[in-house]
Formats: sequence, structure tokens, C-alpha cells
Amino acid sequence: MSTATSKPAFGNLHGLKVVYSAVEIAGPEAAQLMAEWGADVTWIENTFNGDSMRDTTYVKELERRNQRSLSLDIFSEEGREVFLKLIETADIFIESSKGPAFARRGITDELLWEHNNSLVIVHVSGYGQYGDMERVNRAAYDQTAQAFSGYLSQNGSPEQPMIASPYTGDYFTSQMVVGSALAALYKAQKTGVGESIDIAMYEVMLRMGAYYMMDYLNAGILYPRAGAKHQNLCGIGVYKCKDGFLSLCLYGAKQNKAILERIGLGYLWGTDEYPEGTTALWLDGPKAELIEQKIEEYLLSMPVDEVEKDFSDCKIAANKMMTFEELPNHPHFIAREAFVEWETIDGKKCKGPNIFPKFKNNPGQIWRGMPTLGMDTESILTEIGYSCEKIHELAEKGIIKKS
Ligand code: COA
Repeated sequence: MSTATSKPAFGNLHGLKVVYSAVEIAGPEAAQLMAEWGADVTWIENTFNGDSMRDTTYVKELERRNQRSLSLDIFSEEGREVFLKLIETADIFIESSKGPAFARRGITDELLWEHNNSLVIVHVSGYGQYGDMERVNRAAYDQTAQAFSGYLSQNGSPEQPMIASPYTGDYFTSQMVVGSALAALYKAQKTGVGESIDIAMYEVMLRMGAYYMMDYLNAGILYPRAGAKHQNLCGIGVYKCKDGFLSLCLYGAKQNKAILERIGLGYLWGTDEYPEGTTALWLDGPKAELIEQKIEEYLLSMPVDEVEKDFSDCKIAANKMMTFEELPNHPHFIAREAFVEWETIDGKKCKGPNIFPKFKNNPGQIWRGMPTLGMDTESILTEIGYSCEKIHELAEKGIIKKS
């Protein structure tokens, strides 16, 4: 494994070198998590306007902290040479594009393996590297992945399908990138032989959204879009209280008994319709409509903090819907340092989520803010053996950009 040079030694991934060429979230967020866990991450950006994530104001500071920016025209002849040289010392290469964009331009997996036999290559795209070629080459974002995978058809109200936000398809994809890349790395380190991973965003969403799909595929059952409530169980969903919303997930015998007592339907418990030990209050159950109506009425009459506490004491999973304003001051957020402040490259303060998860022995760390476009071009090229003169020449020709 190659050794990172410019970042401090920390984290479980210290010594791992990740290179990526991708924009926005799906590919980059995977590299980002690895950067937070100690990997040396090189972010390749084009030489004209860089990653479109740079158009955001604050989120880019979170999504690109701990990274190094290399601005390189990969597909020019000389840029390709630089890229292949860079790949020689990388462990993982992640790219996201409209179908097999690298292979189309002659940068095939096989060529990459000629330069680094154990390289783990992750291709991220909307629809995969092969299949119906008209679809394969299409642009894709979260919304299109949710639409094509059937995920979108499950969320929202019966009249209006709704995207699960924010950017669920992108962030789920990034988790699949991290997991599969590290799985392949485990094997590559044992065998010395790399891997190529074909991640289609719609397939990520198909896998993540298959819970109710299994009922359809195997028994033809189609649940209507349930809006703020659950498809087939009472007491699950987002309910309006006197002064806020409660997110409730009612399940389990003692929990059902406690709720029925509170909503004035305790007499149902232990009957033939709801025998003791009933764990699930199905929406097609005998008194489901009445139960749901009474839950709604009861919650509407209750202050949300009070009901959350009472339900929690009964081992019912319930949480009031927290607003952004409430989060930073909540004692639990404070105790776990869920938010943190760090310095941006230009010395300003930026606030955002801390590094998660919390590793006990080798914690993550924030060692720098988001780099400016091409800020690390020179040092990265020097590391892989380019002289000052050659770097200057490449910059003059516009093959690289340095800041
Ligand atoms: N050097 C030279 N060329 C570069 C380059 C570099 N460093 N980085 C990108 N390019 C090229 C790309 O190959 C592309 O060329 P093409 O249009 O001829 O294929 C062009 O610059 C534009 O880059 P791209 O990042 O693909 O921008 P786009 O606006 O055309 O498409 C996406 C953006 C996200 C829609 C597209 O990349 C995509 O579908 N990606 C896969 C799914 C995905 O990750 N979606 C975003 C989820 S957050």
C-alpha cells in the first residue's frame, strides 16, 4: 500500500491512497468518508471550472474537507500520462460519468491494471457500464435514479410521488462505493489482483428500496403510497401533536398494550381480535381504523415533549421531529459533539457535522478545509516524480492547473 505524505497520520485508513474523478455527491462522498477516516484522497478536477460542487456555498466545505485537489485534463495525451502515473501508486480509483466514459476514451480497466495490477476501480454511473446502450450513456442524478429504480413510486401521497430528500440516491450510492471498494481492497491485498466495480445508481436504489417490492414480486401485493404514515401497520408514521410533530414507530406487545390504554381502547387488549402478545397492529386488522383515529386524536391533544417522554418510558420508539434550530443546543448533540467547527482554507470558521462513526482506537480527524481548485497539483505531481520544469510546461499548455 502506498503511503500518504502530506496529511498527518491518523485513522484506520492511514496509508490508503484514493484517487477520484467525479462531481457532486455519489462518487465524491465515498472518497470524503475515506478522507475523514484517514485516507489520502486526491480529487481530480477538470481544468476549466472544476467540480460543480464548487458552485455551492457551504456544503462543499463539508463534502471536500481533508481532500487534495489536482486540476488535470485527463483525456489529453499528456494529461493521460500524468493520470496513469498517478494511478501507479493508488489503491482505489473512483470515477463517475455517463456510462463507460473512460473506456470510450481508451482508458480501460485493463490499461489501468497494466499500470497497477492491484488497483481497485469503481465506476459510478446512473445505469451501469453495459446494458441497453441508449440508457447506459445517459446523464443521471439522484432524482433519475429514484425514478428508474421504483424507489420514487413508493414515496409521497397517492396523488403525488415525492423524492426522498436530500439526495438520498447519491448518498446511498456513496455508501455502496465505500463498502464495495473496501471489500475489493481486502481481496486485492491478499491476491495482488485488483477489481473493477460497476455501480449503477438505479441498482443501489433498487436494492435499498426492495422491502415492499418483495411482496409484489412474490405475491403481487402493491401497497399504495402511504404519505406520512406506514403502508400496513397502525401507529407508524409522523403524527401531529399540540405543538409539533411526533415520529412514532409502534411495534411490540407491551408497546401496543400501552398505546391502547392511553388512547382509551385498553379494553381491546386480550380479546379475540387483539389477544395478549399481539406484536403488530396491522392496518387490515379488525379495529385498525378506530385505533388509527384514536392515536391521531390523542396525539393532537398532547404536547410533543410530554408524549415523547411518556412513550419512551414505555419502550415505544418515538421522537419528536427536531428542527434545525433545536439540534445544536440539544444536550445529546452537545455531549457527543455531533457538530464541530473547523477552519476553511482561507481561515474562516465553518460549522458542520463531526466525523462519524466514532472509532475508539483510530479516530478520524479534520486536518484541512476544502482546497482551492488545483491547490495541490504541484505537490501531487512532484510526489509522483515530475520535475519543476515539467510541471511548469504542463501548466503552460493547460494540461494541468495550479493555484
Ligand atoms: N479532464 C478532462 N475531461 C473531463 C475531466 C477531466 N479531469 N473530468 C470530466 N471530464 C469530461 C467528462 O468526461 C465529460 O465529457 P463528456 O460529456 O464528453 O462525456 C465532461 O467533461 C463533463 O463532465 P461530467 O462530470 O460528466 O459533467 P456532466 O455535466 O456532463 O454530467 C453527471 C454530470 C453527474 C450527470 C454525469 O457525470 C453522470 O451521469 N455521472 C454518473 C452519475 C452521477 O454520479 N451522478 C451525480 C450524482 S451526485
